[in-house]
Amino acid sequence: MSGIRPTGFLHLGNYFGAIQNYVKMQDEFECYFMVADLHSLTTHPDTSELKTNVYRVLAENIACGLDPDKVALYCQSHVYETAELYLYLNMLAYIGELEKTVTFKDKVRLHPENINAGLLTYPVLQTADIILHRASYVPVGKDQEQHLEMARNFSNRFNFRYGEIFPEPHAFNYNQVLVKVPSLDGSGKMSKSENQLATLFLADEDDLIRKKVMKAKTDNGPTENNSDKPDYIENIFGLMRLVSSEDVIAKFEHDYNHCVIRYGDMKKQLAEDMVSFISPIRNKVNDILNDEAYLKRVMQQGAEKARKSAKATMELVREAMGLHY
Ligand code: TRP
Repeated sequence: MSGIRPTGFLHLGNYFGAIQNYVKMQDEFECYFMVADLHSLTTHPDTSELKTNVYRVLAENIACGLDPDKVALYCQSHVYETAELYLYLNMLAYIGELEKTVTFKDKVRLHPENINAGLLTYPVLQTADIILHRASYVPVGKDQEQHLEMARNFSNRFNFRYGEIFPEPHAFNYNQVLVKVPSLDGSGKMSKSENQLATLFLADEDDLIRKKVMKAKTDNGPTENNSDKPDYIENIFGLMRLVSSEDVIAKFEHDYNHCVIRYGDMKKQLAEDMVSFISPIRNKVNDILNDEAYLKRVMQQGAEKARKSAKATMELVREAMGLHY
């Protein structure tokens, strides 16, 4: 089970970090992937863009290979059982532990004007999402580790008080080392909010992709054979390894090691390989977005699957809690 916040456009980092994991999992597990529209209300009370964002994130995930016939792909607000379980779990969550959450403290600092109770109990809602399907594996990035730890605490607390219902949820990733997708400006990773011009989005047009890649930082090239690569050059090779063919990579490695590398050519090649990788996905996203009836069907089908699992869990929960009169 995992949740995807509907906050705009996915980028290459999301693709190689998260979506690829989901796509692989769908053939091995019973999967629930959810668009976290309720979570977005904790920070974005204005809902005028919400529908557009929910549709986009669904379309992007489908275009990347998530198959709505294999997984339950649904919208959080369509599964009302989430709200009920969230309520019960709130009685098991202590204010003190919630106030210590790093993401909560960050948001308090960034938005002191809107420190609402939903923000404080964000990890409780996330726990409800997960244990509603009695999920064991949660494919998430490093930034969610604390939330997962809290999910284990809340569900263990429930089990201890009312009876063993929930398995322990744990973060899941196929790769021992998390795939890092470096940004194009030589510092950090690709990111939605920070360096937009150094981040390749799945929605970027071909010319914008080329422009961003050609801007990547380089230098005059190495002066000694087989020397170490500076970070920003290693990043360009890193991006190539994600989208270019073996022989292309081998050629530029060879050129680098023999001090005959031409970074202009290398970036042109990378730009074309990025275009070949991103443009089919972008076009598919646009096709899907043009078919609103299809997206509605997908959400409905997803909600049905998710509610079936949710209803079964809630029967167990009410029974265990003694709410059966
Ligand atoms: N908090 C997650 C994020 O910021 C999104 C999320 C909501 C989630 N519910 C979830 C992730 C349940 C995993 C499981 O990315």
